[in-house]
Amino acid sequence: MYRNAKNVGYYMIGKGALGQLGDVLAPRRQSVHGPAVFFLDHYFNDGCLEAQLPVEKDDLVIYVDTKQEPTTHSVNTYTDQTRSYLDGRPPCALLAFGGGSTMDTCKCVANLLTNPGKAEDYQGWELVKNPAPYKIAVPTLAGTGSESSRTGIICNEAKNLKLGMNSDFTMFDQVLLDPDLTASVPRNQYFYTGIDTYMHCFESLAGSYRNVVVDSLAEKAIDLCKQVFLSADMMREDNRERMMIASFLGGMAAGFVGAVHPVSAGLSMVLHMPHGLANCYALSVEEDIYPVQYREFMNMMERQGIDLPRGICQGLSEAQYDDLYEASIVHEKPLINCLGPDFKKILTKENVIERFKRM
Ligand SMILES: [Fe+2]
Repeated sequence: MYRNAKNVGYYMIGKGALGQLGDVLAPRRQSVHGPAVFFLDHYFNDGCLEAQLPVEKDDLVIYVDTKQEPTTHSVNTYTDQTRSYLDGRPPCALLAFGGGSTMDTCKCVANLLTNPGKAEDYQGWELVKNPAPYKIAVPTLAGTGSESSRTGIICNEAKNLKLGMNSDFTMFDQVLLDPDLTASVPRNQYFYTGIDTYMHCFESLAGSYRNVVVDSLAEKAIDLCKQVFLSADMMREDNRERMMIASFLGGMAAGFVGAVHPVSAGLSMVLHMPHGLANCYALSVEEDIYPVQYREFMNMMERQGIDLPRGICQGLSEAQYDDLYEASIVHEKPLINCLGPDFKKILTKENVIERFKRM
């Protein structure tokens, strides 16, 4: 069976594009007479970004707490808040301003507005049955590819499982990429998030589940990441635009990852580590699996003056190491993609725990 692949409906790229958001939203407001719901990363709670947005009197603005990645609990809570504000009215649009956590929150809340039940009922593939309301992504951090991917990642604490709502309905209808929005991101965070694109693209290219479209997108995204992270300044204006485009292409290429993302998921579940940083730690102990990419990544860190302090898993309990192992090894599809069906012969429990101890 061939998969019928969907892409983002519309996208706009360029410096100052945020100024056109009102024009994009206007026809939506005319056709659907309900409020717009704006999800903003709590980083913007000083109100400066909100003041630049086409927010109208009846709209709802939610500041998303991104200290932790989205959880089933946080998504359910934001859904309840949105549903009670809407009070039966259809929203004209849901909009996300932030990085992967804010965009994923917006995507998952949107699915739950039109589908019964809770966030935990939809972690998996093709479980969402009804189309979500119209959604717009405006990334203010580039790298996760959430703006163009068909998943919204959620951490399920009860199940010790980090897994997304994978569905065509999860995708944004419109993406607006304005590189001005990443100018004030702290350097470390810019690097850790941007490098996520590099990672999921090389994981895909090094895997066994492939197709030519995904490979082409992933190759170009990696090329752009190299231009950005091997240059003298990754945050130069032209590099910030390149990074946004790399993230967008990388999100479209997001198919199957490999051995970095499962280990990264373990760190996010057990230590609540942000995704991009967790990826960096994961690759830092996988030089045997990805030797070329490991060296390139180390070069990029050095070139950009980024550090990765060691010893993050020192002093954990046996139970925590067990949880790290379980929350990593559960991701069989990507691990088979990378290491084949006998991946557990390589990634034994001892082997995986030894890697965490080296971080
Ligand atoms: Fe990722």
